[in-house]
Amino acid sequence: MLAQIAQKASRSAGAKIYLREVERVIGALMASSEFWGVITLSCLPVNTVAEIIKELIAEGLVVQKDHSLELTPKGKGEAQVREISPLADGACKACAGRGLDLSAFNKLLNTFREMVQGRPKAIFEYDQGYVTPETTVARVALLAAKGDIKGKDLLIIGDDDLVSVAAALSRLPRRVAVLEIDPRLIRFIQALADSHHLEIEIYRQDVRKRLPAELCRQFDTFLTDPPETIDALELFLTRGLAALKGPCCAGYFGLTFAESSLSKWLALQQILAAKLKVAVTDIIHNFNEYVNWDYLLESVRKDLSFVQVNPLSNWYRSSMYRVETVEGSYWENLDREDLALYPD
Ligand SMILES: [Fe+2]
Repeated sequence: MLAQIAQKASRSAGAKIYLREVERVIGALMASSEFWGVITLSCLPVNTVAEIIKELIAEGLVVQKDHSLELTPKGKGEAQVREISPLADGACKACAGRGLDLSAFNKLLNTFREMVQGRPKAIFEYDQGYVTPETTVARVALLAAKGDIKGKDLLIIGDDDLVSVAAALSRLPRRVAVLEIDPRLIRFIQALADSHHLEIEIYRQDVRKRLPAELCRQFDTFLTDPPETIDALELFLTRGLAALKGPCCAGYFGLTFAESSLSKWLALQQILAAKLKVAVTDIIHNFNEYVNWDYLLESVRKDLSFVQVNPLSNWYRSSMYRVETVEGSYWENLDREDLALYPD
């Protein structure tokens, strides 16, 4: 039964969907009755989950009641036979699974949360969607724990998460610079820097254009959260690497399961290893939590009513990658205006 569902879902998805993935979706449905919650728990791409649930409904294993999804007695029976258990989040409640003690950063978090209240809304044009204030401050704490921020020069590439503001406010870095394309964010960051006497250098920059010479080989650490196509990931990372001083510097970026299949994870890891020649030192599961954004339902498929439901809570997460440069890491700085980075 579940193998047939995997087959049928593969046909409509146009890509192979595995039995194990169907089992994961059922396990997630045992813990969440919400489509978006099932994505978070199953750690599968949005469309894979949608196709599987569509087939589970067609086969009578799941029923859609208003906006929620429930396993039918038939679905529960199948779960029992296959010994599928509910997928729990399982994260440590004290640190939300980030593995960091944030107590030294509470004051920073309170101030930051207050400061960013009037922040610009996330817009589709630049594939924006910003993280919670807790996440932004946790990023500063992570960099601090890794020795990548105190007395160091930090570059943020695309900053709708306002990491530059939290970093400058922490007074830890020696230098904070931001590359940003959205004039609304540039104005907002500049206004906060002015009103709070923060030193933040802001450069209006399309990341497809090569890095300005004055930013090359200048930084100890970069942080970015690129759109999740291989082209965009590689491009943002090459910009970050071109900005770094040399070996023993660090780069941070997020990667999701919701938008990136494991094939894409592997393709990226191959680029990191073979082309960019950086070592992956950390991958912290679900480190980044994003605030739900207004344009979600416009940007996802409209043919399935269980997808066209507003999320009840923040569901979009990404893992935090930390990479470190070695002798021979990539640092070419070429114009790439041939690339299309954002959705059209
Ligand atoms: Fe913990």
